[in-house]
Formats: sequence, structure tokens, C-alpha cells
Amino acid sequence: MSVLSQIESLLAKAGAELQSAASADEVEQVKVRYLGRKGELPGILKGVKDLPVEERKPVGAAANKARVMLDGQVKAKLESFDSSSDADFDYTLPGSPLTVGRPHLLVRTMADIAEIFSRKGFLVANGPEIESDRYNFGALNFPPDHPARDMQDTFYLREANGLPEGLLLRTHTSNVQVRQFESRTPPVKIIAPGKVFRHEAVSSRAYCVFHQVEGFQVGTDITLGDLKGVLLAFCQEYFAENIELRFRPSFFPFTEPSAEVDMSCLLCAGKGCSICKYDGWLEILGCGMIDPNVMSAVGYDPEVLSGYAFGMGVERIAMLKHRITDIRLFYENDLRFLRQF
Ligand code: DAH
Repeated sequence: MSVLSQIESLLAKAGAELQSAASADEVEQVKVRYLGRKGELPGILKGVKDLPVEERKPVGAAANKARVMLDGQVKAKLESFDSSSDADFDYTLPGSPLTVGRPHLLVRTMADIAEIFSRKGFLVANGPEIESDRYNFGALNFPPDHPARDMQDTFYLREANGLPEGLLLRTHTSNVQVRQFESRTPPVKIIAPGKVFRHEAVSSRAYCVFHQVEGFQVGTDITLGDLKGVLLAFCQEYFAENIELRFRPSFFPFTEPSAEVDMSCLLCAGKGCSICKYDGWLEILGCGMIDPNVMSAVGYDPEVLSGYAFGMGVERIAMLKHRITDIRLFYENDLRFLRQF
């Protein structure tokens, strides 16, 4: 038999043996038998030097090609065992748990508040977080020298990269009032949740970013009684049925009269406890009747129309509802905290 046909029959034999190999061990044995140092193919190659010169080249080439082919077949066979090791997989083992995300407590609180008000006929609206002086202050009847415009409270944006002059991060959601009034004809009845920013020292009660829900209604014959009714209904629905409200006279540039609203303490119902600092009342929001100057600034006729507005801090509402004592917990992304809600 010529050397070339020896190589050919070796390939055929090795191929068949590989095919019937039933384990990685058996494949290894075939490999050693044919390709190993003392194996059949190297044996043939050793004889090449004794061949007549003109046969050496084709035989050497054929032997090399055979080695590469066999190598490939061995690898493929070994890989086929790898994937069929699936057969040993224990499908009864418990899987690794998938963690499911959930809305952040603040997002949920805003959604819950908006939902209660939307059932009372309020539309839900949003406004920009980057705002101009006019929408955050001017049209809301803040005089030009009002201290709330001071750098202490407001983050102003630097004029750069094509940003126009005089932009700021809104300090409250009351900007949505102006924007909605400008784009709607009364009656309007809107609730506007969102993020606000203040340049304040961070503490357990204050953070530089927080959230508010703004509410307002404008129409003919809207009274303080409507405001009281809607706020009481909200608090009784959101907190507890026996909640009572107390209106304390206050001041906001955009409302007249203005009030701060306290609700009877959730924990002690007015008797006095550590939650209400032994006062029996908890402050929850600011509100009032929309100032005629705001009406005029947006082109509403204050002689014909009236309205109320209110604004509440979402963090404060959530802290009261869930007895959370530090506002910073909302912003630390500690899963031990977040997973409780
Ligand atoms: N914008 C006020 C604040 O951030 C909250 C507020 C008070 C909103 C009275 C109102 C309102 O709409 O009538 O402190």
C-alpha cells in the first residue's frame, strides 16, 4: 500500500473510532493512538525521509493535512460531550431568584395623591423643572426684592453653552399654576406633582431636592369653603377617616388670604405624642385663595373669576404616613429602606 493510501485509511479508521467514542476518555485514547508521539500518524511521518525525493513533498503535505483534520474532529467530538453534559443538569434545583424593581416610595406617594384628586375631577399636569423668573416668581406676585428670590433659596443657572439668561431650578410647583392658567380657559381644576430644588442646608428635615404636589381650581364662585372641603376629603382618604384640619393664617405672595394647614396627629389624634411633638397637630401644606394679581398676570379677570391653590411637600406626607424620621433616607438608595415599601 502506498504511503498516501495508508494515510487515507488511517483517516477513515480514526474517524470511525471517534464517531463511536462514547466519552471524553475514549476520544482521548483515539487521539493518543493516532496523533500521540508514538501514534500512527507520526509513525508514517517518520518514514518520509526514507522515501524517494519526489514522493516526500506530497506525502508530507497529506500527513499534515490529516493531522489538522483529525485534530479538528477530536475537538468537535469533545465539545459535543460538553453540551450533552446538559443531560446531567438537575432541573429540580431551585433557580436563582430574579429581583423585581418597584416604584420609589416618593413616586408612589405622588401617584397615590394624584389618583385621589383625579377621582375628584382634577386633571394631572406637569411643568418644567428649569424655569424662568416669570413663572417661578414674577407672575406669582413675588415683588422683585422678595427674599425668596435670594441666592439662599434658589439655584440659578449660569448663562453658558447657549442657555438664555435668568433661568433657575424651580423652587416650587406653583410655576405649573401660571403655565396652566396661560394655556387654559376656566374652569380649571388641576393637580401637579413634581420635583423642586432649594439651596438649603441638608438635615433630617430638609434636602436640596424634594417633591411637591400643587393643586388649584379656578372658576366662578370658587370659595374658601371649596378649598377646605377638598383638602379635608383628601386627608381623610389618604391618612385616616377621623382626621381634622386646622387652618392657620399665613402669607404667600400668590394667595390672599393664605393659610398653613395642620391635621390632627395621626398617632395620638390630638392628645399629644412624640410624632407631633406634644402639640396634637402636624403641619401638612400651604394654601389660599389665588391673589387677584396672579389672575391679572395670566389674563384672567379677577372680578369674574376666583380660585384656590394649595401646595404640599411629598416627602413630609410620606414621612407622616409611614413614620419616617429622616428625609435623607429617600435619597440614599439603601435597598433595606426602599424594599420596605
Ligand atoms: N409654593 C409654596 C411653597 O413652596 C407652597 C404653596 C403655598 C403652594 C400656598 C400653593 C399655595 O399653591 O396656595 O412653599
